[in-house]
Amino acid sequence: MTQKLWTKVDAYFSGMIREDRALKAALKDCKKAKLPPIGVAANQGKMLMLMAQMIGARKILEVGTLGGYSTIWLARGLSEGGKLITLESQNKHADVARKNVARAGLDGVVDVRVGDAKETMPELLRIGAGPFDLIFLDADKEGYPLYFEWSLKLSRKGTVIIADNVVRQGEVINTRTKDPSVPGMRKFNKAVSRENRVSATAIQTVGTKGHDGFAMILVL
Ligand code: SAH
Ligand code: DHB
Ligand code: MG
Repeated sequence: MTQKLWTKVDAYFSGMIREDRALKAALKDCKKAKLPPIGVAANQGKMLMLMAQMIGARKILEVGTLGGYSTIWLARGLSEGGKLITLESQNKHADVARKNVARAGLDGVVDVRVGDAKETMPELLRIGAGPFDLIFLDADKEGYPLYFEWSLKLSRKGTVIIADNVVRQGEVINTRTKDPSVPGMRKFNKAVSRENRVSATAIQTVGTKGHDGFAMILVL
């Protein structure tokens, strides 16, 4: 009942979202390549794009590319001359993403980097790639506490950090959960709560992707 209704309501708003051919084709190719269907929903992707536009983002970092669906939305939110770097550990995912990004006409703007974000984030710091205006965390949830630390190092005052999947069907409050991503997520939420250099909130969402949520963090 609930999931059915959430899906229907998402469909009701699809005219407002206007997911275009490049995004639809990206999803189709993710499916064809048998990537797991765990990317953001269309309305969530649009929200990411709008947030990037709202803050006039010129440098965006994404951690967890998959097939590049959220990447396309985020890159479309960049200001003129802006650039997006997206980090992905799986070569196969990165290959699908590069094709999807190119079809969307964004290959000159998006840099897909393959490697474990636990190594590629420090590497970005070494090469002076930051500070980023917007950072979207969406890779393995176990890694979130560490990705948060590196995000702070790659930030400036005013950087916005958005973390996906902080609710996990409500399992985030279940300390005896079987969901292996929850302990990392709880550690992340605790670290954010205790960090005086940021101001943060968490918003639960329901829709085609079930019950989950985003944390939104402003670097002070
Ligand atoms: N942002 C995408 C979904 C990402 S799914 C979207 O919304 O469309 C999570 C991705 O993170 C997967 O592709 C997975 O391979 C990648 N990932 C998992 N662990 C990682 C790590 N340690 N470093 C970099 N990427 C990782
Ligand atoms: C899942 C969903 C996500 O959005 C993600 O980034 C990783 C995993 C999931 O439903 O398992
Ligand atoms: Mg996610």
